[in-house]
Amino acid sequence: MAAGPMTSPVRYDPLDEATLADPYPQLADLREQTPVAWHEAMECWLLTRYEDCLRVLRDHETFARDPRRVGVQVPHAHLSVQVLDPPQQAGVRSLFMTALHAQDLDALQRSVGQTIHERLRQCAGQPVAEAMRDLAQPVALAAIAGLLGITPPPLAEWVQTSDAIMRSMDAGLNPELIEPSRRARGQLSDLVSSWFTATGRPSGLLGHVRSHAPHCGPEQAAYIRHTARVMFQGGYSTLTAALGNVLHTLAHHPEIGPALRQHRDLVRTAVDELVRFDGPVQGTTRLATGDVTIGDVHVRRGEKVTVLFAAANRDPHTFEAPDRLVLDRTPNRHLGYGWGTHACLGTVMAQRVLTVLVDALLDTQIWPRPAGDATRRPTATMRTFARLPLSLHP
Ligand code: HEM
Repeated sequence: MAAGPMTSPVRYDPLDEATLADPYPQLADLREQTPVAWHEAMECWLLTRYEDCLRVLRDHETFARDPRRVGVQVPHAHLSVQVLDPPQQAGVRSLFMTALHAQDLDALQRSVGQTIHERLRQCAGQPVAEAMRDLAQPVALAAIAGLLGITPPPLAEWVQTSDAIMRSMDAGLNPELIEPSRRARGQLSDLVSSWFTATGRPSGLLGHVRSHAPHCGPEQAAYIRHTARVMFQGGYSTLTAALGNVLHTLAHHPEIGPALRQHRDLVRTAVDELVRFDGPVQGTTRLATGDVTIGDVHVRRGEKVTVLFAAANRDPHTFEAPDRLVLDRTPNRHLGYGWGTHACLGTVMAQRVLTVLVDALLDTQIWPRPAGDATRRPTATMRTFARLPLSLHP
């Protein structure tokens, strides 16, 4: 049995150019050679087998999301549904879940569909579209703002704020990212506070949240505000990344267009498979609340364990032909939306937006084609594009 972080160091740099371009061969090597591997720079155990990842996500008693459970302080402003663990998390998570299910998602889907069609028309008028700027970002912002029931901030300003925050997820790898993200977080907090003090009849998901939690104490009120912030910023950046990744995959697999046109009923399963195949969230971290064994490795209390969704989703023990896109893959228990008590709160919404995108491409007969070098953002946690030049013409 390996005994703690002194053993089995690995050479895996998620920000290396080749890894950013295609992380899957390296993740497959890790899974085969050191499925539970200590990463010196990230100071964590990397998990690459599906079953190990699932176990950690399910067992929130042993694997904490909330660092305070192992004695690590957390700034108060970070305490949201994303950081709190059960039982503290339960109230705020169910409040947001209920609010989500109370929304008219069909109407929202129609309105997102209109935005996508408008944007596709504009993209078709240019020789080359910058798909992140011209399609993914505006569509994601319209979808999240519509869901929450808020007026969207100006797109260009918002993109900058969101980028600074997203990059800070990798502050463990690059401490220079901390300060710009602190400023951006301040701007975002001001924006979120304005939604909670706005007068007039609140609508959308936040309207529901505000009207169903009018008399909660100051601590709960803070968790709610912080969760609204995560829904907005996290939801926007992840959805933007997902839209970009899906467009990129479709552009590089032109055979999908005719296959889906022939079997329109496969769009739903195809959309899920596209998230398994190249999802936006590469991993997440938990902390061991006690000494525990994973595979043949002894993990000590307080050590970080990083679940690599991207690796788990290509594990050949769970997925047949994991490197192939199987449009009707069923069941498809991928971890692209996480699992367990911290599973994505926006899954239903995200699936609808991606479905509308694929439907719109099929209806308009506009199929994305590569039109220049796409560039990945140098971010380890979020897999997304900085530039995605595509030709979007019928
Ligand atoms: C295709 C798009 C999306 C993907 C692939 C995705 C993926 C994920 C994943 C993997 C997690 C779990 C992380 C963990 O276990 O630490 C997560 C959490 C979360 N997601 Fe998403 N997400 C997407 C879109 C959205 C959208 C649109 C929203 C909001 C409307 C959203 C809101 C959240 C929230 C609030 C959490 C935290 C839940 C908790 O910790 O209890 N996501 N997402």
